[in-house]
Amino acid sequence: MTTDPTPAASTPDDAPRALVTGASTGIGRATVRRLVRAGYRVLASARREDRLAALAEETACDTFAADLTNDAQVAALADHARSLGPLKSLVHIAGGAIGADRVEDGRAEDWSRMYDINVLSTLRLTQALLGHLRADGGGDILVLTSTAAIAPYPGGAGYTAAKHAERMIPATLRLELVGEPIRVIEIRPGLVETEEFSLNRYRGDAEAAAEVYAGVAEPLTADDCAEVITFSLTLPDHVNLDEVVIRPRAQASNTVVHRER
Ligand SMILES: NC(=O)c1ccc[n+]([C@@H]2O[C@H](COP(=O)([O-])OP(=O)(O)OC[C@H]3O[C@@H](n4cnc5c(N)ncnc54)[C@H](OP(=O)(O)O)[C@@H]3O)[C@@H](O)[C@H]2O)c1
Repeated sequence: MTTDPTPAASTPDDAPRALVTGASTGIGRATVRRLVRAGYRVLASARREDRLAALAEETACDTFAADLTNDAQVAALADHARSLGPLKSLVHIAGGAIGADRVEDGRAEDWSRMYDINVLSTLRLTQALLGHLRADGGGDILVLTSTAAIAPYPGGAGYTAAKHAERMIPATLRLELVGEPIRVIEIRPGLVETEEFSLNRYRGDAEAAAEVYAGVAEPLTADDCAEVITFSLTLPDHVNLDEVVIRPRAQASNTVVHRER
């Protein structure tokens, strides 16, 4: 993919500002790159400071490390975002899957953690910055969920439960905020081959992680998702892409995937 950065130094002061979570890897990092190239000033957040520093070096984005499961760290991130000035787009990408167990074997602590990193983290940061979006004349709240938010698959119940729940945040906010100048966008990717998603899901088992994408001609890339995210945010303000499902051509549903092998 292209990583040609647009340094903040060449970005005008009145450029729109976006806060992107999950920016240390995968879809979040690709989104930071795309938004910077589209002329945004981006505040990139995740827990790993070294990853954020490398991205700042590459794109001249601002960074702030925060664990979104920690209320005090979310408050500090929101304070920092406010200190930078008006915010146009709040882009929730942080999240993830832990385990691929059948319901009968699922671990409650995994389900609980997935609820925290996918649902409550999105809730916390939305609550912390909604007032700032409003004060600055509106903007966008984008939530990256998943096709796991709209249909089950065997071994997926803990993750699909969390993503279904996360989906209720944009779905409900859109009803609650109608009439305000705030777009609420939900993007639902299917199979995306990223460095860490499946590795984390399978607790570091690289073979099991590779099997997820085995034989699939062209899984989506992080940059494919970033392109759709950037498109949705750069449409005219009155155009709201409510819900977007993106899948690779080789995937027809969560359970029907064409594999050549
Ligand atoms: N890959 C797929 O097939 C796929 C498909 C549909 C949807 N998604 C969703 O897309 C999003 C990004 O996934 P990905 O595939 O790009 O890779 P990923 O490895 O799942 O990325 C997760 C991101 O969330 C951050 N994160 C995790 N826990 C956090 C916490 N407690 N506080 C703050 N940040 C946290 C991670 O950064 P740190 O570890 O540095 O904190 C990382 O940047 C996730 O929400 C995932 O559920 C993925």
